[in-house]
Amino acid sequence: MNIEEISEKLSWLPPSFARFIEKRVKKIPAFKKMIDAENEKAMSVLEHSLRPYDGKFDKHISLPSTGVSREKILSDIQHMHDVESVKWKEGFVSGGIYHGDNEHIDFLNKVYALQSQSNPLHSDLFPSATKFEAEIVSMAAHMHGKGKTPDNAQVCGTVTSGGTESILVAMKSYRDRAREEKGITEPEMILPTTAHAAFDKASQYFNIKQVKIPVTGNYSADISALKRAINNNTIVIVGSAPSFPHGTFDPIKEMSDIALKNGIGFHTDCCLGGFVVPFAEKLGYKVPVVDFRLQGVTSMSVDTHKYGYAAKGTSVVLYRTEELRHYQFYTLTEWPGGLYFSPTLAGSRPGALSAACWAAMLAMGEEGYLKATKSILETAEKIKEGVKAIPEIKILGEPVWIFAFASDTINIYEVLDQMTRKHWNLNGLHKPACFHIALTLRHTQQGVAERFIHDLKESVAHVKANPGNKEGLAPVYGMAASLPFRGMVSDILKKYLDVIYKL
Ligand SMILES: Cc1ncc(COP(=O)(O)O)c(C=O)c1O
Repeated sequence: MNIEEISEKLSWLPPSFARFIEKRVKKIPAFKKMIDAENEKAMSVLEHSLRPYDGKFDKHISLPSTGVSREKILSDIQHMHDVESVKWKEGFVSGGIYHGDNEHIDFLNKVYALQSQSNPLHSDLFPSATKFEAEIVSMAAHMHGKGKTPDNAQVCGTVTSGGTESILVAMKSYRDRAREEKGITEPEMILPTTAHAAFDKASQYFNIKQVKIPVTGNYSADISALKRAINNNTIVIVGSAPSFPHGTFDPIKEMSDIALKNGIGFHTDCCLGGFVVPFAEKLGYKVPVVDFRLQGVTSMSVDTHKYGYAAKGTSVVLYRTEELRHYQFYTLTEWPGGLYFSPTLAGSRPGALSAACWAAMLAMGEEGYLKATKSILETAEKIKEGVKAIPEIKILGEPVWIFAFASDTINIYEVLDQMTRKHWNLNGLHKPACFHIALTLRHTQQGVAERFIHDLKESVAHVKANPGNKEGLAPVYGMAASLPFRGMVSDILKKYLDVIYKL
C-alpha cells in the first residue's frame, strides 16, 4: 500500500484520533521508511523547481575572497529579473504583483533609492520617515471611517511590514489588554475557518487559544456558531473582508455587533479589501460596510503592499482607540543601551519602504484608486460571465474580485495542472478542493480575462477527456488535503523550508 491509498482509506478518521494513531505508526520502521521515501521523492521534484539557476550563475557558499564587481552583480540580478517578471507582467499570476506598470515601479524605485538609508527607529535622524508613516496611517484611517464614526473614534494605528505583522500585533494588543484590564490568563480568539493563516501564527506566537467557527454554504462566518463560541476568555472575534481563500466577506456588521454587545474586541481583516472596498463603495458597487463606521470594529489590518500598490513590505494596522494601540507598543526603561521603544515587532525598519508606500498613495490619490478599482471590478464581471458558460466549474460563495473555482464533476486539481501548463500561476486550495485567482491590475490588461476563460475552457475539456492524470501536482494536492496524519503534512512543509535554504 502506498501513502495515497493509506490517505484514502483513513480519511474518515476524526482529527484527534488521527493524531493519536499518527504518533504510534510513525514509530513503525516500515511505515517510517515509506514516509521518508515519499518525502525524498517530493523534495527532489521541489528542489529541481526551486533551483532553475543551478549551473547558470556562480554559487556562493561562503563569502567571495574579493568583492565581485558591481557590474557583474547588477547584470546577474537583471538577468534573473528578466526571467522572473515575464509571467506576472503578462497577467498570468494570481495576486502577487498588484500594480506592475513600469512607470509606477520606476517611480517607487526612485523614492526607495533616495531613502535607502532611512530607519524609522531613529526618528531624530529621519523625521521624514516619521512624517511618511504618520500620514500613511492617517490616510488609511480616513479611508476606513475616521471622521464618520458614531462615537467620533480616534482611529489611529502604525505602519507594519505586511498583513501578517499587522495581524500579529493586533492579536498581541488584545491579549495584553485582556490580561491587564480583565485578568484573562487563558485568552481565546474566535475566527472563521477561512481566516488567514496569520491568525494561527498569532495564536502560536502569543499563546492565544483559537476557537474556529465554520462558514456557511456561502463561505462566510456562521453567526449562530459564533454566538455559541463566546465565553469569558474570549478576547477578540475576527472577520475577513474579504477572505483569502474564497474572496468572500464575513458578516462583519453582525459579528462586530455581537462583539460590542459582549464587550469583546473585533478585528476586520481587510488586508485584501483595504484599498478596494472603500473605492468600490464610492463607485456604487454593492459592498458591505466593514470599517470603523461600525461601532463594534476595534481594529483593522489594511495592506498597502497589495491593492495600495506600494512596494512589498508595508501594511497598516488600525485601532479604534489610542488606548488599545498602547498595548501594541514595546518599551524598555532599564536597559544599559538606553531608553528603548518601538511600535512593532522589528527594531530597525526600512524607512525607504515607508517612503515608497507614502509616495504610492500620494501618486495614486483617490482618483487613481477609483480608476484601478473600477477596472478590476469590470474584469471580475467578465470572469464571472465567462465561467457561467463552463458548466463543470462553479465559483464558491459570492465573491467580488477574488474567485475560487471548484467542480462537482471533475478533479479541480487536474484543471489547475492544465492551467499551470498554460503558464498560469494560480493558488491551489483545499477544504473544499478548489483553486483561486485574485484579480489585480495585471489582469485588466487587454485580452487577459478572455485568455483566462479560454484557457479554463480548454483545461476543463482536457480533464474531461483525460481524467485521472497522475502527472503534475494534482495527486500531491489531493493527498495533502486528505492525509489524516496532519503532523506528517506539517513535516513535509518544514522540509520544504529546509530545501529553500539549501544550496
Ligand atoms: C485576507 C488576508 N489577510 C492577511 C494576509 C497576510 O498578508 P501578508 O502576506 O502581507 O503577510 C493575506 C495575504 O494574502 C490575506 O489575503
